[in-house]
Amino acid sequence: MSLVLLLSLACTHNKTQVADSGGTTSTISTVVGDCDPTVGIPVGNLGDPTEFFAADAHADVFGTEAPDPWAVHLGFPSRDASTSVSMLWRTDVDTMSSLVEFGPAKGFPKGASQVAGYTFLYGSGEIGTGAYRMHEVRLCGMLSPGTTYSYRVGGEGHWSDSTTFSTPEPAGSVDTFRVAFAGDSRDDMTTWGAILAAIDAHSPDLIVFSGDMVMFGSNQEEWDDWFAATGTVLARTPFLSSHGNHEFLAQNYFAQFGFPGNEEWFAYDYDDMLLLSLNDTVRDPDQIATEQRTFIQDELGATTLPWRIATHHKSAYSVCTTHGSDKTVRAAWSDAFEDGGVQVVAAGHNHIYERSVPIHNEKKVAPGQGTVYLVTGGAGAPLYNRVKDEWFNAVNNPVNHYIIADFGPTQVDMVVRDINDNIIDQFTVPR
Ligand SMILES: [Fe+2]
Repeated sequence: MSLVLLLSLACTHNKTQVADSGGTTSTISTVVGDCDPTVGIPVGNLGDPTEFFAADAHADVFGTEAPDPWAVHLGFPSRDASTSVSMLWRTDVDTMSSLVEFGPAKGFPKGASQVAGYTFLYGSGEIGTGAYRMHEVRLCGMLSPGTTYSYRVGGEGHWSDSTTFSTPEPAGSVDTFRVAFAGDSRDDMTTWGAILAAIDAHSPDLIVFSGDMVMFGSNQEEWDDWFAATGTVLARTPFLSSHGNHEFLAQNYFAQFGFPGNEEWFAYDYDDMLLLSLNDTVRDPDQIATEQRTFIQDELGATTLPWRIATHHKSAYSVCTTHGSDKTVRAAWSDAFEDGGVQVVAAGHNHIYERSVPIHNEKKVAPGQGTVYLVTGGAGAPLYNRVKDEWFNAVNNPVNHYIIADFGPTQVDMVVRDINDNIIDQFTVPR
């Protein structure tokens, strides 16, 4: 969870000119809606948060060890994917420059703007000892829907390679958008890299992960391996995850990703889809049936978007006997999903692929009358192959896999492929 400490620099909430870098004036964007350009200090379950300070990011200072941006990826400082985005990356601890140069893809960097952000240290050690430096620049309300941008991060003399990303079309536009689903990479980064490369070959607009990226969420070496396996994909393609039990609410998780809201449970509007991402490994177990259930009901009651998709980690419906169905989650959330018109829920935790029949009130219903529950826990963690017969199961298959979903005006077409790109399931869910 991010502890939002507003820094004096941005408290005016005006566009603020900051120091020059290479002769170009940089700005920090203004607060727009739910997007605050200031960056909070991440607080996980490790470390004393008072030991970690956000720093002015516009200082034109580079370290000597590893000043070049590493693990550059997109973040989400707002629920509105069409107008706001952030860029996050790592450097050595002495590098303070946190600049993004972005602009129209054509002719980049011609016509580009330079935006400054923030940098902070995180980790389980004291600053300078076992600490890691993160940089985050938030472009609040600075983007237009349906547009491709180029960008690079770092600062003069230490820019990353430039890359592109695209914002979604505005809600209500008649179009098709593609979302990839996967989960549970956990302890096999070779398989994770292969799954992500296979996903990337389908050019999804958005990647949604159902948690358990690594084995020990407080082990930075595992995170470094996880990011190394992602190559440049997450710099180009928005990636959102749910918090899994193996993330352990660690500071490393909250520091390295920029998700909307409190980063544990959040809503994200992408094109014609409301995505609800929930946390079923919480500090206080009561949060599942209270705060998060209310959050689900409020969001589904308020949205006007036709596609309503949810993701979290521990499957509410699973025939895999390793973990089985999580009855706590099912009791707390399933009726809210089903009554609120959620078409598909994607979870993991059980390392297998599963699809349920459409369900409403713990009964099989006709397509379009209930929610389809997917288990997509096959991105690297050891597979679980013990299953039992259950009334709710339509398909189960213990293989490494990923899901490509094409959301259209009337239906979503979902294709599930194994790591060799063999189709292992294919189905349609009506809107
Ligand atoms: Fe798990």
